[in-house]
Amino acid sequence: MKRLRIGVLASGGGSNLQSIIDKSLDGTINAEVVLVVSNNSKAKALDRAQTHAIDAVHISSITEGSDEAADNRITQEMLERKVDLVVLAGYMKKVGPKLIKAYYNKIINIHPALLPKFGGKDMYGMRVHEAVVASAEKESGPTVHIVDDKYDHGRILAQMKVPVYPDDTPAILQRRVLEKEHEILPLTIQKLSEEWEN
Ligand code: GRF
Repeated sequence: MKRLRIGVLASGGGSNLQSIIDKSLDGTINAEVVLVVSNNSKAKALDRAQTHAIDAVHISSITEGSDEAADNRITQEMLERKVDLVVLAGYMKKVGPKLIKAYYNKIINIHPALLPKFGGKDMYGMRVHEAVVASAEKESGPTVHIVDDKYDHGRILAQMKVPVYPDDTPAILQRRVLEKEHEILPLTIQKLSEEWEN
């Protein structure tokens, strides 16, 4: 069975990237990460890729001169490596129209709350968990969804719930949700790889 070729876009620590790499190496998922792109040259995600001899590229509107040029370059790098699925794992930029067109329905994102709640342009990182705690939600958890041209908007593929306790801080809740992110993202990738095989 053909292994799904994955391109990852990440801006930060890359713990979700690591979960995909680990589960592809131990055979839990029938996929391999063939490219990691970051808009941030200092992203730990790039180091993690290099550690595993995965191509790691820094591409941003600054390196390329404009958002449009960055979109073109990212799309070209993905197509050159015959990437089947693009995964946004902590990517802080909106993906461009060229990539969305080239990978229609083949870009997924992980968001650390139960969409459609707590999503949108300014809902990222710790802000999400702050908002969940502030609104006294009883549960939260990661969502994996298809990426379209609106923030946190495309079709939901999977969610996992965790409890939110009254004395939770945003940081405590973030850790609880992140643990589940590391399960749900590889699981969803495996599901897609099986669906696309048929
Ligand atoms: C995760 O919480 C993810 O849901 C969000 O950004 C964070 C990235 O974490 N989109 P990491 O870089 O994978 O550790």
